[in-house]
Amino acid sequence: MTDFTSVQNKVAIVTGASDGLGKAIAKCYAENGMKVIVSDINTEKGSKVVEEIKATGGEASFFRTDVSQEEDVKAMVDFAIETYGRLDGIVNNAGISAESRPTHEYSISEFDRLTSIDLKGVFLGMKFGIEAILKSKSSSGFVVNVASLAGILGNSSMAIYTSAKHGVVGLTKSAALDYAPYNITVNAICPGTIKTSIWGNAPEEVIQQYAKLLSPNGRLGDPKEVAHLALFLASDLARYISGSAITVDAGSSAGKLTPTQWAHPEILE
Ligand SMILES: NC(=O)c1ccc[n+]([C@@H]2O[C@H](COP(=O)([O-])OP(=O)(O)OC[C@H]3O[C@@H](n4cnc5c(N)ncnc54)[C@H](O)[C@@H]3O)[C@@H](O)[C@H]2O)c1
Repeated sequence: MTDFTSVQNKVAIVTGASDGLGKAIAKCYAENGMKVIVSDINTEKGSKVVEEIKATGGEASFFRTDVSQEEDVKAMVDFAIETYGRLDGIVNNAGISAESRPTHEYSISEFDRLTSIDLKGVFLGMKFGIEAILKSKSSSGFVVNVASLAGILGNSSMAIYTSAKHGVVGLTKSAALDYAPYNITVNAICPGTIKTSIWGNAPEEVIQQYAKLLSPNGRLGDPKEVAHLALFLASDLARYISGSAITVDAGSSAGKLTPTQWAHPEILE
């Protein structure tokens, strides 16, 4: 079968689902018949996402979680079990970015804050989420960790974010080996430059400059373009894919972009 009906009725948690990529993933999962725990630190926006899902006939519940807090993450997983009786998958997506600076200018508190959300938060989601997936005896469990291109490439002025995202890819690869015999796939998605509020208040022209600089096709990605991969990884079509860090970046990590002079540009006319 080459459609996504295999995801129907699977129960999944999506962290950081009040906005951006997490919101797009939660909506995409619900549109395809999954039962979704929309989890985020922002209750107001997260509750709206649940309303939007329910308004279109989907099934979702909100649970407030700070992913850096062990008790919150444990309670989030307990909530999933109390609400839907089982857990099939978890998308560890919640994350923050840091200001761009050279490594020595970051403070220790900035390092601690970022890694407590972007790295420890993913570890906690995996620890309690995988335990619940195992106890649910899911025949097609899955973990999707949202890393970044910064999980596979170095970046100037982004040392702490890059270290956390490399850690997420390391957690992903190791856990894929731990749970392959137990029907749980573990993968990371590495988005390129996707248009979400992680860009903060950056003016549109600055964002467009980044798109031209960083994306070979000259545009930012749409959150739905990441959500479609998260759906595939949740489906039974992807059961032989585990331990992978898959890029969604229009090819920007494929190599260096160099200016090209076409001999026959008229082919485009
Ligand atoms: N947008 C991009 O270009 C891009 C590129 C690469 C990787 N990513 C990664 O994708 C993930 C999602 O980013 P986004 O662009 O959607 O960002 P976003 O800011 O639009 O959304 C992030 C969500 O996470 C929530 N959040 C923040 N701290 C939290 C915490 N401690 N506990 C629970 N929730 C928390 C926020 O409230 C928000 O709803 C992040 O892990 C980010 O590093 C994004």
